[in-house]
Amino acid sequence: MAVTRTALVSGANRGIGFEIARGLARLGVLAVIGARDPKDGMVAAEKLQSEGLDVPVVALDVDNEDSALQAVAEVKRIYGRLDILVNNAGILIDEPGGFKASLFDLKPETLRRTMETNLLGPIRLIQAAAPLMREQGYGRIVNLSSGAGQLAEMGSGYPAYRMSKAALNALTRIAANELGGGNIKVNAMCPGWVRTEMGGPEAQRSPEEGADTAIWLSTLPDDGPTGGFFRDRKPIAW
Ligand SMILES: NC(=O)c1ccc[n+]([C@@H]2O[C@H](COP(=O)([O-])OP(=O)(O)OC[C@H]3O[C@@H](n4cnc5c(N)ncnc54)[C@H](OP(=O)(O)O)[C@@H]3O)[C@@H](O)[C@H]2O)c1
Repeated sequence: MAVTRTALVSGANRGIGFEIARGLARLGVLAVIGARDPKDGMVAAEKLQSEGLDVPVVALDVDNEDSALQAVAEVKRIYGRLDILVNNAGILIDEPGGFKASLFDLKPETLRRTMETNLLGPIRLIQAAAPLMREQGYGRIVNLSSGAGQLAEMGSGYPAYRMSKAALNALTRIAANELGGGNIKVNAMCPGWVRTEMGGPEAQRSPEEGADTAIWLSTLPDDGPTGGFFRDRKPIAW
């Protein structure tokens, strides 16, 4: 009998995360919205419900260790398993915004907060989910990275964000290596420049386009890649 897959998407109350949850639900995955404020999560879930998609909400603040543990435990309580973890929640708080943010104006607190959400958040969730995935002998972990974290093309501008995504890429490789033995795949992806609160209204891509590669990586077949970095379903340089 085919197993119905379950997924937890962090930061799924809006933006790309919302579209990932919607896309997975459309494929028949039992997707769960992880939302820092469950009220925002409920508003998102109601939107999906009006499309005939039943998507539950769990409280999830990735900055908080207990919250990450409880969110994973809650998905297990609801569905009995966790097959897919999408580390989508992220922040870009470098100031001033965009390319004007210089390394020489970077405040330690900006870097600390950015690393807390963009790196430690995914680490907490991977640590919480890995025992379940190992037990099941199945797992798909997708990290929402960015071209801004590519060492191959590293430039200047928003240094805290860039460093956090480069570190997330390193985490992807380390986790893929450690979890490699049992059909658990860990990949990073760049959604491109996407029209969300983070990306702004000028961005070229819709949230749906930004979500596509993450949905593909979330549902990879057993012979699919692991430890890779992708955009538009194609490998890109680290
Ligand atoms: N947009 C782009 O152009 C672009 C490009 C490359 C990569 N990305 C990456 O794609 C991912 C999604 O970006 P987006 O554009 O959809 O961003 P967004 O519109 O700003 O949404 C960010 C989401 O993350 C959540 N979040 C932030 N901190 C959190 C925390 N501590 N705990 C739980 N949730 C938290 C937010 O929740 P609240 O509503 O509670 O704040 C929100 O749901 C991010 O990792 C981002 O770095 C985006």
